[in-house]
Amino acid sequence: MNDKAGASGSATTTASTAAAHGFAEWFGRQPAGVWSAPGRVNLIGEHTDYNDGFVFPFAIDRRTAVALGDRDDRVIRVASSFSPEAVTVHLDELSPDAVNGWAAYPLGVAWALGEFGADLEHSRGVDLHVASDVPIGAGLSSSAAIECAVALALDEHWGFGFDRPTLAKVGQLAENRAVGAPTGIMDQSASLLGEADAGVFLDCRSLDADVIPLGFDADGLSLLVIDTRVSHDHATGGYAARRASCEAGARALGVESLRDLRPADLERAKSLLDDETFRRVRHVVTENQRVQGTVRTLHEHGPGAIGPFLDASHVSMRDDFEISVPELDLAVATAQANGAIGARMTGGGFGGAAIALMIDALVPVVTREVAAAFAEQGFREPAMFTARPSQGARRDA
Ligand code: GLA
Repeated sequence: MNDKAGASGSATTTASTAAAHGFAEWFGRQPAGVWSAPGRVNLIGEHTDYNDGFVFPFAIDRRTAVALGDRDDRVIRVASSFSPEAVTVHLDELSPDAVNGWAAYPLGVAWALGEFGADLEHSRGVDLHVASDVPIGAGLSSSAAIECAVALALDEHWGFGFDRPTLAKVGQLAENRAVGAPTGIMDQSASLLGEADAGVFLDCRSLDADVIPLGFDADGLSLLVIDTRVSHDHATGGYAARRASCEAGARALGVESLRDLRPADLERAKSLLDDETFRRVRHVVTENQRVQGTVRTLHEHGPGAIGPFLDASHVSMRDDFEISVPELDLAVATAQANGAIGARMTGGGFGGAAIALMIDALVPVVTREVAAAFAEQGFREPAMFTARPSQGARRDA
């Protein structure tokens, strides 16, 4: 389980091999190239990205790969290992509403490139085959992985030359408009900018990114992902409602976004806002502080000292932002009770995964204890694996 010799550094990954094979099987020829992009774990900074705040995610050693080959017409055809059907769209007919289902991700990215000024009118069609080993619905950004793999593949193959921060925006636009999820810029930034053993400290207002060494390996630490397998759906419900509360709070307090508030402003916020909106605002304001505190502490004292920030982040999401579920709370509490340095739910919430940072030797212990605690509560068996901070999107072949 705690396989420190994972494939994160090598050029060929399981997903890229699968994408190349899938391409050959579907289209009867070899691809011209294979690109891949990782999912992400957010170490800290939840629901801060769309409030112009700070996040500190890292790219993980689970990737989505896309194999690409030219066509001699102007059609894009996408196939994948997770769907029995290929989807075909003419380049002139790309729109955010062109398709539904999984194909909205790759085809949404092709459309979004055009929105950012790419000359699609003179591009030839392509066949794409997508394969992935990023767990879907676990809060590890399987959607950003596919968007970023396709964005980089099309950008390099068609020679547009967009930089990575722009490709992140392309992925986000596809997610917002073609998929219909009102998400921020964090996931795509992590997937495109991540590096081995490092986190991406991103200011979501300026989009300045600092890639900061995490030092987990050197300090003998592992990050365990506990996927509760409680499904979440960002396109509906809770995520959009939280975003709307944040925007309402900012409006009521007369600031452009919650990023502009400091802890000292919370007293005034409390007197002006209803209790629920106040707690949503307090989460975002304190979470921004925790992200900056984590980065500072990492720098000054190393990764073994960041635990209290992770723990406090979870409490804030559970009690103020109210996006946790009993399974996530149990995963976090059990990891903490068994010696984890820190633990919290990660991602948009309402299900998905928790993360727990611990010394390597504790991984089997925490894994066993979390499984036992879930069984005792009658919860579905969680999926658990360690995630290594890994290289962002790249060409594999
Ligand atoms: C999802 C979204 C991100 C971010 C997180 C919460 O992962 O895609 O943009 O808002 O939720 O931090």
